[in-house]
Amino acid sequence: MSLDIVILAAGQGTRMRSALPKVLHPVAGKSMLGHVIDTARTLQPQGIHVVIGHGAEQVRERLAADDLNFVLQTEQLGTGHAVAQALPALSAERVLILYGDVPLMEQGTLQRLLEKVGDEQLGLLTVDLNDPTGYGRILRDKTGKVLAIVEQKDATPEQRQICEGNTGILAVPGKRLGDWLGRLSNSNAQGEYYLTDVIAMAVADGLVVATEQPLDAMEVQGANDRIQLAELERHYQQRAARQLMAQGVTLRDPARFDLRGEVTVGRDVLIDINVILEGRVVIEDGVHIGPNCVISNSTLRQGAVVKANSHLEGAEVGEGADCGPFARLRPGAVLGAKAHVGNFVELKNAVLGEGAKAGHLSYLGDAEIGARTNIGAGTITCNYDGANKFKTVLGEDVFIGSNSALVAPLILGDGVTTGAGSVITSDVPADTLAVGRAKQRNIEGWKRPVKINK
Ligand code: UD1
Ligand code: CA
Repeated sequence: MSLDIVILAAGQGTRMRSALPKVLHPVAGKSMLGHVIDTARTLQPQGIHVVIGHGAEQVRERLAADDLNFVLQTEQLGTGHAVAQALPALSAERVLILYGDVPLMEQGTLQRLLEKVGDEQLGLLTVDLNDPTGYGRILRDKTGKVLAIVEQKDATPEQRQICEGNTGILAVPGKRLGDWLGRLSNSNAQGEYYLTDVIAMAVADGLVVATEQPLDAMEVQGANDRIQLAELERHYQQRAARQLMAQGVTLRDPARFDLRGEVTVGRDVLIDINVILEGRVVIEDGVHIGPNCVISNSTLRQGAVVKANSHLEGAEVGEGADCGPFARLRPGAVLGAKAHVGNFVELKNAVLGEGAKAGHLSYLGDAEIGARTNIGAGTITCNYDGANKFKTVLGEDVFIGSNSALVAPLILGDGVTTGAGSVITSDVPADTLAVGRAKQRNIEGWKRPVKINK
């Protein structure tokens, strides 16, 4: 059966106290609405319709995609009114309503809900709550049949005792929806067109309201303020940490691990505390990541070691290679197998060949460095003349003396040695020593100046 998904995201979110529209606030590095859209996509609907209002332009700009239909709700007159704005674009047999500020909804739960929808039946996601304050309550008859939803503000004291709450998530037969929404009225405590009133109409039309529950109540939890946002974040991170541990990763402390993107992991990976993984990260077998590392959009090959306080972005650490502590690998940094990068070394668009080493305090940018080449402490590639960038190519088994300045464009052949403190400005043929510094003079009998008494 065909499916349209409507995501409500027009509300203001006053309690966020933010210039950013509520649904753009991130959980695990991705906007709440982004999470909902991605979950919606997994259901392969024919259309995803996002109802926007407050901050509409920002939301549209941030999330625009070919498969999304943004629908503007200029005035927020209620959830029923919001869905009605999308009506002209709906044509599927089933319509699923989701919320842009309820990001942890699981695909499996929605799948179970959708299975309930038919011509004579709709599916409603409800949740049993210890404290249902604020939620619409599910009214059932003595046999348990759902009759209606009553909003907190319209409920009698007896109805407020009901602990089964409306999550708002609902799946309905598409061909009925227009008729029901057209009949909504706003004569209620909040003067709003309530989507929830559709339930009583469906019952009056002889349909059965089937209910389904989430496996975990956090799935249906929305974020109205930053406290709830932080709760969702922690829940997400705990879930991510548990999934990784189940896949064979050792997390030194699952409470001090953050995933803001996607990671694939091999076996026997060890991740120490306070590590942040961002974007797409690939971690192969036996990788060790030390404490306080930030690793984004990077690949760590088998047995690689990233030591404490390293920052990797768009980098690759080869098989058995290691970097850090305090290494900075920027986009295009590639460490070959068994290569070594030590403390306070920055690489950008630089490839270190197999077994090559840069042990301390270097900047290597726009460089190709051959196998087994050793870069002495303090070496800098001068890759930028203030206007353009140039490349440095070092052959294999090169030995760069400490504190060398390699002025690009520059090519050094295999086996070249440079003297410490050299400024190397022209190419050096293979197996040659290049010394580019003032020659040392020793001045015998030289006297230090003495202080003049005034
Ligand atoms: C709604 C439900 C309530 C349920 C609760 C769960 C109704 C009438 N009530 O109440 O039964 O228990 O959610 O959280 O549906 N929105 C729009 N346009 C509007 C109004 C709302 O896009 O005109 C969006 C909001 O941005 C929000 C969502 O719909 O994401 C829910 O709206 P809200 O006003 O928060 O509804 P509740 O009062 O929480
Ligand atoms: Ca709400």
